Amino acid sequence: MPTLTYYTATTLDGFIADPEDSLAWLFPQEQERDGLFNYDEFFAGIGAVVMGSTTYEWVLDHQREMVTETGSVWPYRIPTWVMTSRDLAPVAGADVRFAAGPVATVYDEMAAAAEGKDLWVVGGGDLAGQFADAGLLDEVITYVAPVTLGSGRPLLPRRLALRLLETGRNGAFVCSRYAVVGPGEWA
Ligand SMILES: NC(=O)c1ccc[n+]([C@@H]2O[C@H](COP(=O)([O-])OP(=O)(O)OC[C@H]3O[C@@H](n4cnc5c(N)ncnc54)[C@H](OP(=O)(O)O)[C@@H]3O)[C@@H](O)[C@H]2O)c1
Repeated sequence: MPTLTYYTATTLDGFIADPEDSLAWLFPQEQERDGLFNYDEFFAGIGAVVMGSTTYEWVLDHQREMVTETGSVWPYRIPTWVMTSRDLAPVAGADVRFAAGPVATVYDEMAAAAEGKDLWVVGGGDLAGQFADAGLLDEVITYVAPVTLGSGRPLLPRRLALRLLETGRNGAFVCSRYAVVGPGEWA
């Protein structure tokens, strides 16, 4: 079975975007490209990704100026599932598949498409939570930026028990990898 990981940057107070879906707090942060849990190394092991529609629309809005060599504005060359209840426009030249409803079905489709590689939940937090609810989320990797926002899009709005596997520093970020143990059942 592939490993399904929620790999994301977050603020110290647990937000992955501000209330207006801005990541302006994230981009100025110092990061070592080949440092701990770096994106290139992580992404090399990924065969399929899934994201919610807000993230999809954010990526599209911010990639418009970057047309890839395939002629597409889409940054991923691997199959991508976008969860939405709406009729969203597909991206020309990209393997983007829209889905709605229980994530277990999407998980099976992703695992088949990934050809032995692992799976990435790009975000947002509730979508990662839906996979955790179904017992399908294996790991969480967080890049914690030295920032608080006070409000915004939550990192992972669930009660979950995690086990710390590795932690360290990459530039301005504290980076940690956790195994998902299961529902947090504290009194
Ligand atoms: N810090 C980082 O590294 C990082 C990483 C990823 C994302 N982000 C940002 O964080 C924000 C996340 O936004 P978000 O919290 O709104 O989450 P999201 O997961 O991107 O989008 C949520 C939307 O996806 C659709 N959806 C989710 N699950 C579904 C299901 N099972 N079936 C059908 N539709 C489903 C629903 O919209 P509809 O049905 O109305 O389409 C829902 O409102 C974005 O601004 C994104 O850019 C930051």
